[in-house]
Amino acid sequence: MSKETKRFLSGIQPTGEPHLGNYFGAIKQHIENQFGANSLYFIANYHSLTTINDKEKLKNLTKEVAVTYLACGLDPNNSTLFRQSDVPELTELTWLLLTVTPMGLLQKAVSYKDKIAKGMTPNAGLFTYPVLMSSDILAYDSTTVPVGKDQIQHIEITRDIAQRFNNIYGETFVVPNYKLSSTPLVPGIDGAKMSKSYGNGIFVFDEGKTLKKKVMSIVTSSKPLEAPKDPDTCNIFSIYKLVASEEKINEMAENYRAGNYGFGHAKKALLDEINEYFEPFREKRKELLKSPDYIEDVLIEGGKKARVIARETLNRALEATGLK
Ligand code: ADP
Ligand code: TRP
Repeated sequence: MSKETKRFLSGIQPTGEPHLGNYFGAIKQHIENQFGANSLYFIANYHSLTTINDKEKLKNLTKEVAVTYLACGLDPNNSTLFRQSDVPELTELTWLLLTVTPMGLLQKAVSYKDKIAKGMTPNAGLFTYPVLMSSDILAYDSTTVPVGKDQIQHIEITRDIAQRFNNIYGETFVVPNYKLSSTPLVPGIDGAKMSKSYGNGIFVFDEGKTLKKKVMSIVTSSKPLEAPKDPDTCNIFSIYKLVASEEKINEMAENYRAGNYGFGHAKKALLDEINEYFEPFREKRKELLKSPDYIEDVLIEGGKKARVIARETLNRALEATGLK
């Protein structure tokens, strides 16, 4: 790959059903940034082993993430979509990177510290999570990593590790940059960050009564119907802005400010827009689920392409260290 060419790479852990935060914060950008051989997106199932120890759950969630990408418009003939574990070179590369990674660098990782603070008993895999992530990124000479705010520190760790390796062994890895998602944090139905682990998610493929129940339970202020309201502090409006047209967004904002517009009206409008936005994706998902072999083929083919690139990079690193 020439030095000027950009390569986009990002991954999503199969730890839960994809929700609107995952879609607007990550998946949508990945689908919009499809540059043929220069964009790779993967399902980070090695990473999920640090928290999921249930075989069937891991397999199902891995498939669900793949189906989500495909149903929402990722073209596997354009971008490469693959399963992390189909590229075993990553684990070998991780070992090489671990040996140049200072303990202190990992001890500073906020996402690790957060999990400990929440009472999780960490395994060594969770502690070294950012090094496997560095391996994901460096293996493909990625230049650009589209991520949400929470992942920036991991990219900084990756840059640090790549630079250390290059300093010790000579130029081996491309030092990547992150590309921050333009979507601000999507709130969940309780108003906190929508997250798999908070049980506050509206899933991309929720529909019918399940979806209605969630939308109707979005937390709002207790202002009465007549009172004018500030759209910018309302959870319903924050999600509405992601799914409605500009005209409809302005209309809802005006309704809020004018008063005599209740949260019930806004929730109904939001429900309609979510249905309209995601209906084509739901249909596509139903079609895809009829062809499990197709989904598996896409992942296998994607894995083969990714593996060729990772092998080359691993060989370069093995030669640099003297192991090969
Ligand atoms: P979760 O918090 O549900 O476990 P992940 O940490 O697996 O989600 O995130 C996967 C991707 O989705 C990341 O790129 C992350 O930045 C993005 N993301 C997750 N939740 C949100 C949210 N509420 N708003 C915007 N982006 C989000
Ligand atoms: N840690 C990322 C997350 O939880 C997932 C991930 C794993 C990733 N490897 C990656 C993202 C490499 C970008 C690049 O969201």
